[in-house]
Amino acid sequence: MTVVKNICCIGAGYVGGPTCAVLAYKCPDIKVTIVDLSEARIAAWNSSHLPIYEPGLDEVVFECRGKNLFFSTDVDAAIQEADLIFVSVNTPTKKTGMGAGMAADLAYVESATRRIAQVAQSSKIVVEKSTVPCRTAQSMRTILDANSTPEIHFDILSNPEFLAEGTAIKDLLNPDRVLIGALQTESGIEAQNALVDVYTHWVPKDRVITTNLWSSELSKLAANAMLAQRISSINALSAICEATGADVDEVAFACGKDTRLGSKFLKASVGFGGSCFQKDILNLVYLSRQLNLPEVADYWQQVVTMNEYQKSRFVRHIISTLFNTITNKKIAVLGFAFKKDTGDTRESAAITLIKDFMQENARVAVYDPKVEAEQIYMDLAEPDVEKKVTICASAYEAAEGADAVVIVTEWDEFRDDQLDYTKIYAGMNKPAFLFDGRLLVDAAKLRKIGFKVSVIGKNELAGTA
Ligand code: UDX
Ligand code: ADP
Repeated sequence: MTVVKNICCIGAGYVGGPTCAVLAYKCPDIKVTIVDLSEARIAAWNSSHLPIYEPGLDEVVFECRGKNLFFSTDVDAAIQEADLIFVSVNTPTKKTGMGAGMAADLAYVESATRRIAQVAQSSKIVVEKSTVPCRTAQSMRTILDANSTPEIHFDILSNPEFLAEGTAIKDLLNPDRVLIGALQTESGIEAQNALVDVYTHWVPKDRVITTNLWSSELSKLAANAMLAQRISSINALSAICEATGADVDEVAFACGKDTRLGSKFLKASVGFGGSCFQKDILNLVYLSRQLNLPEVADYWQQVVTMNEYQKSRFVRHIISTLFNTITNKKIAVLGFAFKKDTGDTRESAAITLIKDFMQENARVAVYDPKVEAEQIYMDLAEPDVEKKVTICASAYEAAEGADAVVIVTEWDEFRDDQLDYTKIYAGMNKPAFLFDGRLLVDAAKLRKIGFKVSVIGKNELAGTA
């Protein structure tokens, strides 16, 4: 029986960092080393200001760091020491070449796998943690097999991560399920059991699911595609609500009461963001096309198309409400992260919206409690962006002299019981418009203050357009 005593995690990002920190926290008998090529990232993990904002993460890291949790740039040493290696590197959508804009770029997975093959001096269990296209394990196997010897053997497992940002620590401590896929050979099953034993340090055994490798790889894409599909479904309905007088919150509530549907992931919004949903759906679309299943590909593609439509529909509504021009008008954007409780901005709806506002020559003022100014400018990547977009230290500063406030991220501090909207209103140009892309505020209360309010999926949107 294989017992895991030493774990290496390649990639100290949003997935690898929190996942392996919790693993160390829950398994004091296992040494965990998280490595990354980026010296700056590792230095931050070793400092008091961690590179990722995630509620509860600091406590977990500070508790174990230096005891059984280590952060290092010495990738080779960590590989050599480990019995089990998580590959948690980034797998962005390809920008150029075959499958550009759709397929995942597996260059980082490949280079990490090659490194393992080159430096390993003993047998290892290699675990795919990053979300990867189906059958990536096959490519990893080919690379590793070409480098194995009778003394050194590699087993490959798929163990996709289901944590959501903003609730990562909670999700990791109490997961709905842990999924571990393996080739159903004697040695594959032994490796699978070894990883099951790691998780059952804290996860009840009935929540640890074991499957074959390919089911595990596909389940991760499938889960994300279905979650995103629910959001696109409610967003598609939000357009109907605005045109008919139905209220999207009421529709979601009524539908969610059906136990077959459930209430989660039915919150209409300005569009989903994050590093996973769009990437994984496009991955599924690409896979379907490769498998010559065009109807299946078109079906999933529509989830992304609807998300783009939702963003552009919101922008069009803002412009038409502001008398068909926002040139030189000041738009205050509240929130830049793709959801609350994270500093992550990947695929955030805010990026698309602000780029559109810039195209229309608006003056944009952004405030987000957790995203650094440098990150915002990098994401907007337009010439003269610093002249067109101001980063503010508070919502009040952003709204000062603004013609419109646009709520893009659902941070609690933007709720009407936390932010002083009377003060915001007082500082704005009149009429003072407020566009709620997150169904966050009580529109009636804000209208009493004097705001002209539009909320996604509520009839007033149509009424004011
Ligand atoms: C997602 C999956 O939830 C997680 O299981 C997987 O491991 C990674 O991808 P994440 O992208 O971190 O997690 O966040 P999630 O909470 O799923 O939100 C994604 C986007 O959808 C956000 O922009 C969020 O604001 C939006 N969203 C979510 C809605 O617009 N409405 C909802 O009802 C839920
Ligand atoms: P995710 O959201 O999937 O965790 P991130 O981009 O946040 O993605 O993190 C991935 C990390 O993997 C980055 O910090 C990157 O530097 C690191 N990385 C990529 N390739 C390698 C490699 N071959 N060896 C070590 N680290 C790597």
